[in-house]
Amino acid sequence: MSQPTIESILHEDRIFEPAAEFSSSAHIASLQQYQQLYDKAKADPQAFWAELAATELHWFQTWDTVLDWQPPFAKWFVNGKINISYNCLDRHLTTWRRNKAALIWEGEPGDSRTLTYAQLHREVCQFANVLKQLGVEKGDRVGIYLPMIPEAAIAMLACARIGAVHSVVFGGFSAEALRDRLVDVQAKLVVTADGGWRKDAIVPLKEQVDKALANNSAPNVENVLVVRRTEQTIAMEPGRDHWWHDLQAGASADCPAEPMNSEDMLFVLYTSGSTGKPKGVVHTTGGYNLYTHITTKWIFDLKDTDVYWCTADVGWITGHSYIVYGPLSNGATSVMYEGAPRPSNPGCMWDVIERYGVNIFYTAPTAIRAFIKMGEHLPNARDLSSLRLLGTVGEPINPEAWMWYHRIIGKGRCPIVDTWWQTETGGIMITPLPGAVPTKPGSATLPFPGILAEIVDLEGNPVPTNEGGYLAVRHPWPGMMRTVYGDRDRFRRTYWEHIPPKDGQYLYFAGDGARCDQDGYFWVMGRVDDVINVAGHRLGTMEIESALVSHPSVAEAAVVGKPDDLKGEEIVAFVTLENKITASDDLKNELKKHVVQEIGAIARPGEIKFADALPKTRSGKIMRRLLRSLAAGEEISGDTSTLEDRSVLEKLREG
Ligand code: WT7
Repeated sequence: MSQPTIESILHEDRIFEPAAEFSSSAHIASLQQYQQLYDKAKADPQAFWAELAATELHWFQTWDTVLDWQPPFAKWFVNGKINISYNCLDRHLTTWRRNKAALIWEGEPGDSRTLTYAQLHREVCQFANVLKQLGVEKGDRVGIYLPMIPEAAIAMLACARIGAVHSVVFGGFSAEALRDRLVDVQAKLVVTADGGWRKDAIVPLKEQVDKALANNSAPNVENVLVVRRTEQTIAMEPGRDHWWHDLQAGASADCPAEPMNSEDMLFVLYTSGSTGKPKGVVHTTGGYNLYTHITTKWIFDLKDTDVYWCTADVGWITGHSYIVYGPLSNGATSVMYEGAPRPSNPGCMWDVIERYGVNIFYTAPTAIRAFIKMGEHLPNARDLSSLRLLGTVGEPINPEAWMWYHRIIGKGRCPIVDTWWQTETGGIMITPLPGAVPTKPGSATLPFPGILAEIVDLEGNPVPTNEGGYLAVRHPWPGMMRTVYGDRDRFRRTYWEHIPPKDGQYLYFAGDGARCDQDGYFWVMGRVDDVINVAGHRLGTMEIESALVSHPSVAEAAVVGKPDDLKGEEIVAFVTLENKITASDDLKNELKKHVVQEIGAIARPGEIKFADALPKTRSGKIMRRLLRSLAAGEEISGDTSTLEDRSVLEKLREG
């Protein structure tokens, strides 16, 4: 159950061919067909994407240039007019899909709701009118801080419909983290709920919004819309706060989709990097619509008869691309689940699969490792025979977990798509196409057609087969992020100049280490920067360090990841205290609580280690490599000659 190591992965040579039965009806039905698509896209990427854009999407007006690439800034389908809400809703209404389930929502505790395409369209149009009524205009930013309820998808689609830019903030983030994001994106309105259900308890979302907005600290926010969900008493500020259901009831259901420019901003989603504050990743309309549409269709081999379930939260990119936009653009039935396994209901995931006859199930390795721990008697007690395809995302999957998923959940029948991508890439980049590409446990296999992925060194030179290097992408693709919100320079530096461009050739730097094997299969090892991946959630060490240092007792902090059987990585913080402050277990708990308050529960350090001093180089840089080894309980290896004071290390080792 441990994380993959270079050794374990190098010795992984099991291969699983796509079953003939699966391939025979798959969109991409053979390795040859994949290869043809890949070659065609590589030879003429613009023609490849243009053909798909024309056949798969509705455009109010066609583009005049497929790609305008002024590295590192790309524009796709220039001057095309499109609306993703139209592609996700309206165009299905004139077909039999009108009365097909668009969203199946399973809420906690025991609530459920199904919205057909016609019903979802109506709700979205009404809510779009509510937004307009409150003064939201094209280009304005709207914050969405909701639990996993249909209103989250409705709010996103309503923004898209009128050209407002949504910025969804995961409901697990704290008031402070919410405020930072609302301020950075200059949100004019916030959509929230009284609360959300999380493991049998209420998450008081509205209370967090009140804290985030207190003392006019997010001055752009004029209105707050509140969905009634958990029904406890909450404060409503007259003039600012409105109940969703009050305004929705009076709103007209007539709201034509605004023809948007292909490059108009669709959303901003914040993600952690190795330096500074979380950055607002900007995605635009046309390219993102196409990329999420076609990746959903081919990678999940989506059929009109499928019930598709992605277990992510809409607060992350996976929820944006593969619960809402990709599936709905394809006219699919997408399941949205508010719950999570917990002691009172450990088999709830398998209940949902059985109850709705889920055919396609997409989750994270950390969840799979938790399922393994809870025991196979739980899935074995349910009828999972509806499943035909499984997927994973978020972190490398260890071959043991892959095998368990294949055997216990897929009963050896279902292909597994291990999908590598990022908030920045908009959609899946490296993945098997399930009817075509043989899989190897632990490998995300091959790039999606049109994606030119490479393993290089820091100069951009190719690295030999089976040697570790940096994962990079050579040519722009329609779903790629366009910039960092408000900081074009940071976009350029972070992603496109990390590997210096050569002869005008730019390489996108993903921040992951990987290797490519003799069959061209990619094996992603994990982040090479100071980003920690805790249970599939991405956190910058610097963010957590800043949170710790903002506590009056803390002088200095260094945060590293430590391998963890369940979560992939666990946060370990080394902390030095201010003069006269004494270390204690109480203080450890207080510091953990402080980080939760500053960022959210996902950032709670698993361990805090007090130290007299941190190991530094003579120039004062903290040597995290040493701390990582210490945290993992490994021997310190490699060069320590740059260490300023060797006794620091001895002391830390003694604990
Ligand atoms: C980072 C991106 C994209 C959706 C969820 C996470 C890691 C993601 C895989 C995979 C190995 C993976 C990478 C990447 N990652 N999928 N299949 N195999 N690693 O999005 O929060 O932007 O994180 O997640 O390290 O850089 P994100």
